Amino acid sequence: MRTGVIGTGRIGSTLARILVAAGHEVVLANARGPRSLGPLLAELGPAASAAHPAEAAAQAELSVLMVPYASVRGLLPSAAVQDKVLVDATNAFSGGGKPADLGGRASSELVAEWYPGARVVKSLNTMHFETLAVAGTAEGERLAHFTAGDDEKAKEIVAGIIADLGFAPVDTGPLHSGGILQQPGGPLFNRPLTEAQALAWISH
Ligand SMILES: NC(=O)c1ccc[n+]([C@@H]2O[C@H](COP(=O)([O-])OP(=O)(O)OC[C@H]3O[C@@H](n4cnc5c(N)ncnc54)[C@H](OP(=O)(O)O)[C@@H]3O)[C@@H](O)[C@H]2O)c1
Repeated sequence: MRTGVIGTGRIGSTLARILVAAGHEVVLANARGPRSLGPLLAELGPAASAAHPAEAAAQAELSVLMVPYASVRGLLPSAAVQDKVLVDATNAFSGGGKPADLGGRASSELVAEWYPGARVVKSLNTMHFETLAVAGTAEGERLAHFTAGDDEKAKEIVAGIIADLGFAPVDTGPLHSGGILQQPGGPLFNRPLTEAQALAWISH
């Protein structure tokens, strides 16, 4: 599967590295344009390519948003993600580093409103990039990555990628309730949890 990684900073470049190590293809996009991605492409080899965000999403079967939340709206043309899985790995913070006040909505619900043709799954947003880089191949019990969404098949596709990366996929439920569990301020955010620990938190 070719995955579009939209945003290639701390978390996006990390995801690209572990996807390629797991045998996936990636097409990368950032704000500065494909030429700025030369060094990362050289590191990743032939499984990686670069494009502008709209082209990357169009070329990919599934895309992952790894840009600041404030950059998500209007970033991609709706045709590029129509009927495709769109993983929202972004987190909405206020200026003070606190969770943004979204009036009780899950941040990914708003993403789904901005991209109504896409099959939005909230995932890969809870784990710090330094943990993501190494935990999938570490010894011991697998750490959890979460999926929230209203499209069960889309969540299964994302769960397959999570498993390929060496993590345990854990379904947190619909985009609203699961998204709130996963986003900043929720119990699953930025807390490395095994599958059993994660399920205990979700059932609280
Ligand atoms: N850092 C983590 O551990 C972590 C973990 C989970 C989730 N997240 C979430 O992932 C997102 C990115 O975090 P980060 O720490 O990786 O940030 P970062 O290091 O600042 O990287 C942000 C990336 O987004 C790109 N970008 C920004 N605006 C863009 C636009 N309009 N069009 C295309 N690309 C754009 C930047 O492009 P340039 O490189 O060209 O500037 C950069 O590649 C945030 O929403 C964050 O909450 C972060």
